[in-house]
Amino acid sequence: MRILATYSWATLPSLIVLGFFVWFANWIPQTRWEPPKLRVIDAAMSPAELAVLGQAIVRERGCLACHTIEPGAGIKGQGRGPNLDGLAARRAGGVEGGQATLVGYLTESLYVPSAHVVEGFSNIMPASDKAPAKLSREEAAAVVAYLETLGGTATVTLATLPDFAGAAATSATAEPAGDVPATPAAMLEAFDCLGCHSLVAGEVLVGPPFEAALLKAAATARGVDAEGYVMQAIVDPRAVESPDFPAETMPDDYGERLNAAQLYAITRYLVEGEGAP
Ligand code: HEC
Ligand code: HEC
Repeated sequence: MRILATYSWATLPSLIVLGFFVWFANWIPQTRWEPPKLRVIDAAMSPAELAVLGQAIVRERGCLACHTIEPGAGIKGQGRGPNLDGLAARRAGGVEGGQATLVGYLTESLYVPSAHVVEGFSNIMPASDKAPAKLSREEAAAVVAYLETLGGTATVTLATLPDFAGAAATSATAEPAGDVPATPAAMLEAFDCLGCHSLVAGEVLVGPPFEAALLKAAATARGVDAEGYVMQAIVDPRAVESPDFPAETMPDDYGERLNAAQLYAITRYLVEGEGAP
């Protein structure tokens, strides 16, 4: 059986990151986005063959916008997500209280990243079968095979990849926050906004920093008022994307996860620029 992997061309982010060049300079070796190539992933492929494709997929689908692969740097590394070097060695037995095998853990990490949030990191990783990576099952098998080689040997095949597709619907991210945070600052924390947006002026993480002046300028440029712009950016992030940031990266389900009071409170807080919490 031969299965064709398909890709969306519509959402390729631009390479040109003028305003934030200094920050991006650290990342350029990893974040050079190339047009995805059409790949044929064959059910008969060996784990080693899959791993070769998986390496290319990891580079092409934006994983390295957050992750680094830095030999000897420990789990922290320089990225917003864990250093993937040595991943297979440190997760050889899965994780305590979760998946007990390496392949189970890696596959769950792709489909349900919130199931086990690595200590010291925020819950900002998008599920890999959703935008922006949009991995098919075949591509996920290739990625898992590649991740196994980062400190180990590829073993997975298309037939043995565990099935986590659909599991995300019941995961922690899909649920409304249990403890309702009282202040806007606590909401930004509870909804993981601060994993991608800094409250420090000029500091670019995954998205732009929260600066009232920048938000107002973006609103003015679009001819809308600042509160309207910020609300739209939160509930319909695809509508306000700019080429300076990785496309389709901000979760697009905040409209469901935030209630109206939270949305208004966060919006007012960001527009009024009340400083760090
Ligand atoms: C927006 C940033 C972001 C993107 C894009 C992203 N990740 Fe992650 N990833 C994280 C963060 C942060 C963590 C740690 C928190 C957690 O476990 O969810 C993580 C955790 C992981 C882990 C577990 C690592 C460990 O040490 O246990 C794996 C494996 C992983 N990501 C693989 C991928 C792959 C493959 C892709 C691309 C398809 C990807 N990630 C895209 C941010 C990201
Ligand atoms: C996984 C990373 C991620 C998370 C989590 C995230 N964002 Fe974003 N956000 C982005 C990126 C990337 C952009 C830039 C989108 C673009 O312009 O293409 C963005 C853009 C925005 C903008 C528009 C900023 C501007 O200067 O125009 C606002 C406002 C915003 N986000 C608010 C939030 C809030 C509030 C939360 C939490 C409820 C949040 N974001 C969570 C990544 C994230």
